[in-house]
Amino acid sequence: MQPKVRFGVRGSAGVITFDAPPLNLIDRQVRYELLAAIEAATGHNIDRLILTSACRVFVAGADAGEFGKPPEAPHLNDVLWALSDLPIPTIAVLDGAALGGGCEIALACRARIASPRAEIGLPEVKLGLVPGAGGTQRLPRLVGIPLALEVIVAGKTLTAQQAFEAGAVTRVCETPLDCALSLPAAELSTMTVPNGLAAPQPAPKALEAARKTAKRRARGQIAPLCAVDMIAASALEPLEAGLYQEREAFLTLRQSDQARALRHVFFAERAAQSQARNYLDDGRVFESACVIGGGNMGTSIAYALASAGMSVQVVERDAASCTLAERKCEALIAAAQTRGLITSNTASTITARMAYIANYDQLARVDLAIEAVFEDMNVKKDILTKLEAVLPKNSILATNTSYLDVNKMAAVLRHPERFLGLHFFNPAHIMKLLEVIRTDTTSEATLGAAFRLTKKLRKIPVLSGVCEGFIGNRILKRYREAAESMLLQGATPRQIDQSMRDFGMAMGPFEAQDMSGLDIAYANRNRAGHTRGFRTVADRLVEDHNRLGRKSGGGWYDYSEGQASESELVTRLTETTAQETGIARRLFDSTEIVNTLVGAMTDEAHAILEEGIAQTPEDIDLVMILGYGFPRYRGGLMYCSVSGEASKPNR
Ligand code: NAI
Repeated sequence: MQPKVRFGVRGSAGVITFDAPPLNLIDRQVRYELLAAIEAATGHNIDRLILTSACRVFVAGADAGEFGKPPEAPHLNDVLWALSDLPIPTIAVLDGAALGGGCEIALACRARIASPRAEIGLPEVKLGLVPGAGGTQRLPRLVGIPLALEVIVAGKTLTAQQAFEAGAVTRVCETPLDCALSLPAAELSTMTVPNGLAAPQPAPKALEAARKTAKRRARGQIAPLCAVDMIAASALEPLEAGLYQEREAFLTLRQSDQARALRHVFFAERAAQSQARNYLDDGRVFESACVIGGGNMGTSIAYALASAGMSVQVVERDAASCTLAERKCEALIAAAQTRGLITSNTASTITARMAYIANYDQLARVDLAIEAVFEDMNVKKDILTKLEAVLPKNSILATNTSYLDVNKMAAVLRHPERFLGLHFFNPAHIMKLLEVIRTDTTSEATLGAAFRLTKKLRKIPVLSGVCEGFIGNRILKRYREAAESMLLQGATPRQIDQSMRDFGMAMGPFEAQDMSGLDIAYANRNRAGHTRGFRTVADRLVEDHNRLGRKSGGGWYDYSEGQASESELVTRLTETTAQETGIARRLFDSTEIVNTLVGAMTDEAHAILEEGIAQTPEDIDLVMILGYGFPRYRGGLMYCSVSGEASKPNR
């Protein structure tokens, strides 16, 4: 077996090198070899022990695959106790990411010397855990409780410079290994032994605020609140007692349903992101693109492409629409800058990559064209025909349609093999999900290129076959129908929304419709000729009362100054519709509401799998979590139905 951790001596320094590319993940072998290296170091006459990496990262964390198995000795907390207890100065050399257990290794050293490329973070809560080898006790002792809360509870990653300013990194320099090797003896002798660090100042207000935020942002999740408790303990308990509590919490959480579900999603995302590997790489690059339609979707897609380094032309109908599109893109860039997501330099670079044209003669020979115009088959067919006439034969053509038949669009093309659906979610520059729609004629080469594009855009792609609404919107439609049917049977919008929120959905089905607009689904029902044999409440709201949701001041709810209240009109219309259709009304409780609605979505999801529209249950889980606010900590729709999560109350 290749060793993953090596020990050697360079001059007066002992050097432990992590060498398990690409990520130096910590598994049993690494823990075992690290402990052996620490023990070996004590047998040498050295004045310092340096921990470094042969890879691009320092150590990217624990091997999540091991979390599903019983813990095996040596445990990382014991290994790090041995490291932190060494009588010689220990220095972690960080020239890349030190995350999770990797960060904990660094924190158990007396000093951390980092290059500007390094970053540290403790993202364990994302996997339903707390750090289990000292992170919650050692980080607050170095940087104080408020920042430790941001890193451990909110999952913030610190750059080398931020970590230096906060006190978690001792020095930042271009060549950290050389720096560690040449540190003068005087500096070595002043380093604080990690086990001797003073407890942090208690910060009751910051702890309370973090609890409140965690309850709101990570509703229903146990790990973030547990992490707050552990950080609170760092100010109250001696280090050893705090470490013991932390370890107990880690071991309990590791076996929790939530951690299991979150691991399931983690592996599903990883598999989705590596799909490009299933296709031959034809060497195609994506450097330039055009987006047809500069509306809500077109502009956010264009911004996403430009942010990924592509030059982008937005094609609109006329000069006035071009100006509108340009303003929308500018607003997106300004918003990102205001939120501190991009610097003003980056904003200028992105702006310079974008152009707005109203004439196909001005179109460059782009690698990719995405149409995002009105949801109208004829307009879309016309645009695809024009694009094919002016673009090189190897440019990829894509549509962002939500519902229309992409096979029918493909039929107007002379080279339909280079055409596919790229269904972005709103807003496209933020939402991680991208449904990749394969038509009957899309070639393997086009699909492979599309998956490589999704990588460039840092999206999580899910392959879908052709059906109305593809995977996500088809399930959403069934969900809404089931919710409306329950309304007629006696439940209220408030009751249904609250039940689904309590289950963990980001929003209930009625408030979500009010947010996105009732007119979109209405237009779609009409276009597709869907009728339920009677005028539904949703139809009546749109046709008779022009209630389109928040944007028109009312929909399923009334709105006053942004606050939603139950609508008497909706109650009346519901009762009338139920009476006219002979539906008996009764009471519902929230368990029945959740089980019925999740059950309806699951039935549709099974049909989607059986028809081969989705490839795997995990793909459906990803679509629902990343596109529709399904609770991640329940593992997704299909995982939930198999594990019985749906019927479990929220903790
Ligand atoms: P929108 O109404 O905001 O924008 C459509 C834009 O297309 C307008 O700016 C219009 O001027 C332009 N346009 C129309 N005909 C054109 C033509 N012949 N040449 C150039 N530009 C033309 O619509 P939105 O919401 O951006 O939707 C666009 C597409 O994206 C639709 O197919 C929709 O189904 C799909 N989609 C929408 C999502 C959403 O949440 N809004 C989510 C995912 C997909």
